[in-house]
Amino acid sequence: MSSWSPQRNQSPGGLSSHLSRTLFLLLLSVVSAQDVTPNPDTCLVFHSINGSSVSCHPPAKLPHRLPADTVYLVVEFFNLTQLRADTLQGASNLQELHLSTNQLESLSPKFLLPVPLLKVLDLTRNALTRLPPGLFRVSAALHTLVLKENRLEILEPSWLQGLQALGHLDLSGNRLQTLPPGLLANFTSLHILDLSNNQLKTLPPDLLRGPLQLERLHLEGNRLRVLGEGLLTPQPDLRYLFLNDNRLATVAAGAFQGLRQLDMLDLSNNLLTAVPKGLWTSLGQPTRDMKDGFDISGNPWICDEKLDDLYGWLMANRDKMFSQNATRCAGPEASKGQKLLEAAKPH
Ligand SMILES: *[C@@H]1O[C@H](CO)[C@@H](O)[C@H](O)[C@H]1NC(C)=O
Ligand SMILES: *[C@@H]1O[C@H](CO)[C@@H](O)[C@H](O)[C@H]1NC(C)=O
Ligand SMILES: *[C@@H]1O[C@H](CO)[C@@H](O)[C@H](O)[C@H]1NC(C)=O
Ligand SMILES: *[C@@H]1O[C@H](CO)[C@@H](O)[C@H](O)[C@H]1NC(C)=O
Repeated sequence: MSSWSPQRNQSPGGLSSHLSRTLFLLLLSVVSAQDVTPNPDTCLVFHSINGSSVSCHPPAKLPHRLPADTVYLVVEFFNLTQLRADTLQGASNLQELHLSTNQLESLSPKFLLPVPLLKVLDLTRNALTRLPPGLFRVSAALHTLVLKENRLEILEPSWLQGLQALGHLDLSGNRLQTLPPGLLANFTSLHILDLSNNQLKTLPPDLLRGPLQLERLHLEGNRLRVLGEGLLTPQPDLRYLFLNDNRLATVAAGAFQGLRQLDMLDLSNNLLTAVPKGLWTSLGQPTRDMKDGFDISGNPWICDEKLDDLYGWLMANRDKMFSQNATRCAGPEASKGQKLLEAAKPH
């Protein structure tokens, strides 16, 4: 604890003599001006011209007070169930906060009030079932919010209120079954949205009517059955689209319309037997041409004339097709087990 006294943090002279002795220490971190070997009971503190980075892992004891110039704070792997509401008090320059792999069940609505400059909040692998409304009321600078692998079953728009710069939202690995309308309405600069590995059966049709610059959309590992006409249409910049490992049996003919920048599409491991005419024609054209590939394997394709449209597209784009050996016909009887690419070859 003593290493958190303000005097210690304001003695850069002693610190720099150590730094000049070995670059290794500079890269690792400096526990204090006096200690050369890190003490496992204290957090590692690295002072730089930009401010202090504080990194705490077990068995270190958590600091009572953070250096006032802390810009980067890691408190991971402690299994903490609670954090005091004033944990961040006095660290008004904090920009990144990493709290992954604890057991946090809730957060105080006042938790982030002392840190209005926060840009990154990582809460991966905790036990959150909800967020307090107002948590982000001063978080206008926050651009990355990671809530991966928590226990969220629902989300309410009020929980995210105040976020104005959100670019990356990760809600993967929760227990979400539905999403409320208007959830992302204010997040015009969102470019990565990860909803993978939840239990979503449907999505609100207006889900993406806020974001204007979405580049990556992760919907894999849910229970989606239908991909409707309008969901993706406001997203001309979408480059990576993950829809694999759902239960998609129906994709609307216009579902991919307007995806002019698509580099990658994963539709593997769904329940597709056929797709409507015209679905593929717009894909990736004309600028990108699906350069990072596509995957339609693991679907029970019925290889009859209803797939003619897909066949034509496949032949033209086969060099970008992943899992060709696992992309096979489930019917009709005569074609069962045949590779889709073989069925697609002009006879
Ligand atoms: C300090 O911040 C500047 C600008 O963000 C960055 O380029 C530089 O690498 C940082 N220096 C250190 C030691 O972190
Ligand atoms: C946290 O919990 C895990 C799993 O129960 C355990 O292996 C680990 O030792 C715990 N860590 C601490 C710091 O208590
Ligand atoms: C979106 O922003 C407006 C204006 O700041 C606000 O009134 C509204 O409550 C916000 N909506 C959501 C869902 O946060
Ligand atoms: C292709 O898949 C079949 C069965 O689905 C398997 O027996 C064969 O080894 C695979 N071939 C290659 C080259 O992976």
